[in-house]
Amino acid sequence: MWQIRPERPEDADKIEKLVIASFGAGRFAKTAYRLREDAVPVEGLSFVATSDAEGALESGALVGSVRFWHLDIGGTPSLLLGPLAVDPALRGKGIGIALMQKGIDEAKARGHESVILVGDEPYYAKVGFARLPPGRFKLPGPVDPARLLGLSLKAGALLLQSGEVKRGLPR
Ligand SMILES: CC(C)(COP(=O)(O)OP(=O)(O)OC[C@H]1O[C@@H](n2cnc3c(N)ncnc32)[C@H](O)[C@@H]1OP(=O)(O)O)[C@@H](O)C(=O)NCCC(=O)NCCS
Repeated sequence: MWQIRPERPEDADKIEKLVIASFGAGRFAKTAYRLREDAVPVEGLSFVATSDAEGALESGALVGSVRFWHLDIGGTPSLLLGPLAVDPALRGKGIGIALMQKGIDEAKARGHESVILVGDEPYYAKVGFARLPPGRFKLPGPVDPARLLGLSLKAGALLLQSGEVKRGLPR
């Protein structure tokens, strides 16, 4: 069994280890990383999954993490989702979806209007993400257009957004 709870300051090192194990050192070169470099995650939207004692895992072991970041898209606020990582030993049990859904629900409740990310469409479509129209969003580096995905939290929000995607400031 596993649970989702808000991230706490003391989780930081374990999250770092999980992200390194999931994405490797190459993550620094990625365009999405540039959008969160030296930034702080959005208040109240970082969640972790913890596991009950199971196999080699001790009770309360951190087994998943999701964070969101402020973006500015052509002068309007948005969010970036990522990294999302789940311990390889516990993949395929719904933890990744549950972490994302928790963050999305909370973002909506807090009045955020849209979320974008770079990732596998078949996976993120499970929580409502869809491919963004090619050419409308200019990121600070190369991105495969088939992996640039978005989700409007307020109806039609992303239809009204376009332009340069930069790091944003907390509202
Ligand atoms: C991607 C990741 C977060 C998924 O976490 P998870 O807890 O195993 O995912 P869930 O259990 O919530 O969802 C599993 C479902 O998603 C599917 N799925 C998982 N990864 C997928 C992918 N990359 N593309 C398409 N479908 C995927 C599984 O087949 C499964 O489908 P089913 O429910 O129909 O059987 C995890 O595998 C991970 O940490 N990977 C390494 C880091 C990474 O790649 N992050 C995301 C980058 S796109």
